[in-house]
Amino acid sequence: MTTPRKIFITGCSRGLGLALVNAFINAGHTLAGCSRSQPKMAELAAKQDNHHLFQAVDISDPDAVKAWVSQSVAHIGVPDLVINNAAVINKPAPLWQVSAQEFQQLVAINIAGVHLVSLNVLPLMIEQGHGVLVNLSSGWGRSVAPDVAPYCASKWAIEGMTKALAEELPAGLAAIPLSPGVIDTPMLRETWGEGAAGYRSPDVWASTAAPYILSLNASHSGRSLTTPG
Ligand SMILES: NC(=O)c1ccc[n+]([C@@H]2O[C@H](COP(=O)([O-])OP(=O)(O)OC[C@H]3O[C@@H](n4cnc5c(N)ncnc54)[C@H](OP(=O)(O)O)[C@@H]3O)[C@@H](O)[C@H]2O)c1
Repeated sequence: MTTPRKIFITGCSRGLGLALVNAFINAGHTLAGCSRSQPKMAELAAKQDNHHLFQAVDISDPDAVKAWVSQSVAHIGVPDLVINNAAVINKPAPLWQVSAQEFQQLVAINIAGVHLVSLNVLPLMIEQGHGVLVNLSSGWGRSVAPDVAPYCASKWAIEGMTKALAEELPAGLAAIPLSPGVIDTPMLRETWGEGAAGYRSPDVWASTAAPYILSLNASHSGRSLTTPG
């Protein structure tokens, strides 16, 4: 087993986030996680012993993110690893049919939400002198497809923001844009429907992705990476 880590992760009510939480806890690490769903967070907390912390938080809400980071640090300590996983995808449509409200909400979660977590957590990681920040990107952060322009825009932004951040961080810290590949999650089903069924399950993905993420360190900072498999 690797040295036990303190890990913060957003968006752990389902999909990749939930699968990573289960894999990390099974491997002996300590987690602080969030999603907007109070019942899902309560369910997750009830299944684990209480040195982990799961809270209902909307990462687009500055005050809620500030409180989550502060309470998570009080509960498990300053994290060694932060995974900005939470995101949404637009309802498939050409850009001129996407409402301003849907576009703005997506940007508030997928881009500004990642900034809010970084804003609250990075000063603490810089002070402790080490830490890895992993921001979930996408193949659609490095290529494009029709009907998902808002999502593509947000993931290209994640690539740019994370790589620029990597140039700002002091030695010992890392910021890494990470594409997970294609996995059969509720998000993929929103876009591809039953077409998602041919892809790996989140648990199968996490069986290799979790140890891969734990292997990332300062030498990987600023590199656009993809989980193996
Ligand atoms: N699945 C793939 O093939 C694929 C491919 C490329 C990239 N990705 C990326 O991988 C990450 C995980 O995707 P996924 O497929 O697991 O998606 P998913 O199944 O839709 O899960 C997304 C998670 O984010 C949470 N979330 C959404 N908005 C939130 C908010 N405002 N505040 C807090 N939590 C929020 C959701 O929980 P609540 O609704 O309860 O808040 C959920 O737990 C995303 O960044 C996605 O862009 C996935």
